[in-house]
Amino acid sequence: MRVEKASHTEIAGWLNRIEAATGRLERASKTPLGQLERFHGFPRHSTPPTFWKTYVSGPKYSYDQMPDLTGKVAIVTGANIGLGYATMVALAGHGAHVFAACRSKQRATEAIERALVEVKERFPNTAPQDPQIEFLELDLNDLHKVRRAAKEFLDRGLPLHILVNNSGIMGVPYQLSADGIESQFAVNHMGHFVFTMDLLDRIKTSQPSRIVVLSSLGHETTVKGGIDFETLNDETKSSAMTRYGRSKLANILFGKALARRLKDERVYVNIAHPGFVATALSRSANETYGASAEKVFDFMKSWMAMTPETGALTQLYLATTAYARDEELQEKLWEFSEELVREKLGKKKPAAAAAAAATSSSAGPKN
Ligand SMILES: NC(=O)c1ccc[n+]([C@@H]2O[C@H](COP(=O)([O-])OP(=O)(O)OC[C@H]3O[C@@H](n4cnc5c(N)ncnc54)[C@H](OP(=O)(O)O)[C@@H]3O)[C@@H](O)[C@H]2O)c1
Repeated sequence: MRVEKASHTEIAGWLNRIEAATGRLERASKTPLGQLERFHGFPRHSTPPTFWKTYVSGPKYSYDQMPDLTGKVAIVTGANIGLGYATMVALAGHGAHVFAACRSKQRATEAIERALVEVKERFPNTAPQDPQIEFLELDLNDLHKVRRAAKEFLDRGLPLHILVNNSGIMGVPYQLSADGIESQFAVNHMGHFVFTMDLLDRIKTSQPSRIVVLSSLGHETTVKGGIDFETLNDETKSSAMTRYGRSKLANILFGKALARRLKDERVYVNIAHPGFVATALSRSANETYGASAEKVFDFMKSWMAMTPETGALTQLYLATTAYARDEELQEKLWEFSEELVREKLGKKKPAAAAAAAATSSSAGPKN
């Protein structure tokens, strides 16, 4: 017992020393990081320190590439903090009417107040005069409340073009939701399942529309067999992190099954792993695994994670980028290609069509 305690303290000590060194390096590298941030087009933010992964690999989508979203209505779950907050700010900053679907009215109201200022600061050229962000009460831990939230939105009579199922909890100690379902499965999957299905008719009548599901690479650490439907609530068959993995696998399976059901609609379902992002997602590490685990998470977040602003670009890309699915652009490309063929090859038929015509005429009629 004493040995265990000693090594525990020692690890914490090492982490403290590493953290102190991290702080020194951060200060030393502040100028180049600041420059790189400007290069990527977003201002320095009061999130945890930003690090090499964000800057070395760099985002492929940028806030400058986001289209004008005037007239679009979006819901972002868990928008009061982290990736959801960054997503809400960017959507509102490009003209969308955004609903922050959050469980705490106070946290959401404070976040919206901050966001309304940030929208104008970060997106001065695209933000509308009066950015529209509203609170929608949504507690994914209680399916009756989820249903109520969807109804509250539907009663407003608005279209719904973008739904970002972003809320999530990770690695929390074993507990049951209000409906008696293991909590990570309940919040991360079941709550979003009910919310999405209740909103689906509205999403369909608003098409083209998007549903973005936040999953995680963590889905690979699921319980044995993927999803253990028979023993979902059996605490002995899972750990805090395999339960997270199971819920994130459920996000992918749900997203794919939904996309299949919507294949004839212009409702597009996209599933994202945002990368490793410095957010409050690991807030239960202390409670579940102890103080050292929390320090490890904090250290990794400091050195290896992206800022929420950079991490959110993946879900924003999936929620907003239009190029490949832009029918106008598709037709424009078609006309341009035909025009280019005429210009380069004259009025001649393309080689493949000419060959096909020759074959069919030499083969003669078939009965
Ligand atoms: N950060 C990463 O590295 C990472 C990696 C892979 C995937 N993801 C995924 O990204 C998504 C966003 O996570 P994040 O990193 O931004 O985490 P975060 O900062 O902890 O934000 C999570 C959000 O979910 C909300 N939430 C939790 N329980 C809820 C409930 N019962 N009902 C409604 N909302 C609830 C939280 O609200 P409160 O503030 O009220 O608790 C918060 O707004 C999650 O789905 C996560 O699995 C993140």
